[in-house]
Amino acid sequence: NNLKLDVAKCQQFVAKHELEYLKPLAKLANDMVNNKAGAGNEFMGWVDLPLNYDKEEFDRILKCAKKIQADSDLLVVVGIGGSYLGARAVIDALSHNFKNDLSNSKRKYPKILYAGNSISSTYMADLLEVLEDVDFSVNVISKSGTTTEPAIAFRILKDALVSKYGENEAKKRIYATTDKSKGALRTLASQEGYETFVIPDDVGGRFSVLTAVGLLPICVSGIDITMLMKGAQDARELYLRDDLEANSPLVYAMYRNVLLRKGKDLELLVNYEPQLQYISEWFKQLFGESEGKDKKGIFPASVNFSTDLHSMGQYIQDGKRNIFETIIKIDLPKKDIVIKAQAEDLDGLNYLAGKTVDYVNDKAFLGTTLAHTDGEVPNLVIHLPELNAYHLGELIYFFEKACAISGYILGVNPFDQPGVEAYKKNMFALLGKTGYEEEKAILEKRLEL
Ligand code: PA5
Repeated sequence: NNLKLDVAKCQQFVAKHELEYLKPLAKLANDMVNNKAGAGNEFMGWVDLPLNYDKEEFDRILKCAKKIQADSDLLVVVGIGGSYLGARAVIDALSHNFKNDLSNSKRKYPKILYAGNSISSTYMADLLEVLEDVDFSVNVISKSGTTTEPAIAFRILKDALVSKYGENEAKKRIYATTDKSKGALRTLASQEGYETFVIPDDVGGRFSVLTAVGLLPICVSGIDITMLMKGAQDARELYLRDDLEANSPLVYAMYRNVLLRKGKDLELLVNYEPQLQYISEWFKQLFGESEGKDKKGIFPASVNFSTDLHSMGQYIQDGKRNIFETIIKIDLPKKDIVIKAQAEDLDGLNYLAGKTVDYVNDKAFLGTTLAHTDGEVPNLVIHLPELNAYHLGELIYFFEKACAISGYILGVNPFDQPGVEAYKKNMFALLGKTGYEEEKAILEKRLEL
């Protein structure tokens, strides 16, 4: 049983011939990904990563994760964007919904908290308060090693470690994941003697979840990273096939591009499990940064159902008709609860007695799919047999490959992100960083400072 893409609820919006006409272009895009022969191909290390990953480093990840599990109540993962979202997405998806709130006797693995993904002083100060009372370690992750948000957070957390444990023990509690030779974090790590892990040169941030970037924190939280890699490995193998039966990322990329050309330029990633919220955040970065350029692209957004059916549901059903939905459906829940009959049916729920909560969730999914397609919102459904490490590995590889193919069909370089520099340039100038003197004067005038 593997991940399955169900396009049945999209067929009324996309005619067979539209897919036929797109096929030659889609096939070319697929070949460009398989052969690493398209724009940005210096960042296509992720294509073979599930097979060619560094096995020595993988063993070291397993070893370090054990050490952190033994000596820390809590791991702080410091990183932003591609150096954060993948780890959080997998950890949230596969852990207990309330993992950080479980009592010590019920919690088997360290709590995981995150830092360096915003510049909120209050968040940082609150985190320091939490850390006062626990044993903790820090995994600082930055490919460039110079990103402002994680660099500030790490500076503060390093001080907190030193004041709690002293210089020497603090160094043993810091794990740095960064470039193999370049950047400020690499220099610092070599100088201080931190345990380090490598982000390969040919893997960009948003495609890095299956490198040490994701694997170390994921492993610390007790998730089977061997199965995660196995899922991605099997998906890679299957998606090397050209036929549309096997190559579901190709089919998904084709539908997305046909829909885009018909004015459906907003994609909502939908889930029915709160644990998948960060999969959506990861997805939004993956597709947003890869496709949103040259004034083109589908805007990736997300909703959590049934929660957001009570808020965004109105717009989706009835608002501007530029939306399509991609739903991640978990076919078998990890846990389920039977709804019991009550002597007095005051809440009117006895008609559900004997049914399970997931049965209701499933009917909500089916009913919503019909309602939304009636409302002219095409639905693509990704079925995952279960929410486990293996199927999540498949899902990650499915989205990565679909994103690359889709970007090539769209005619963009899916592996660069020139647009993210604009805010940084302005921020550095306003902060008075050396080299930005001229811009500082111009910006301050514009801001009337
Ligand atoms: O995908 C990207 O390039 C970004 O999201 C980066 O991953 C993010 O800015 C973090 O960069 P770095 O790992 O260099 O700190």
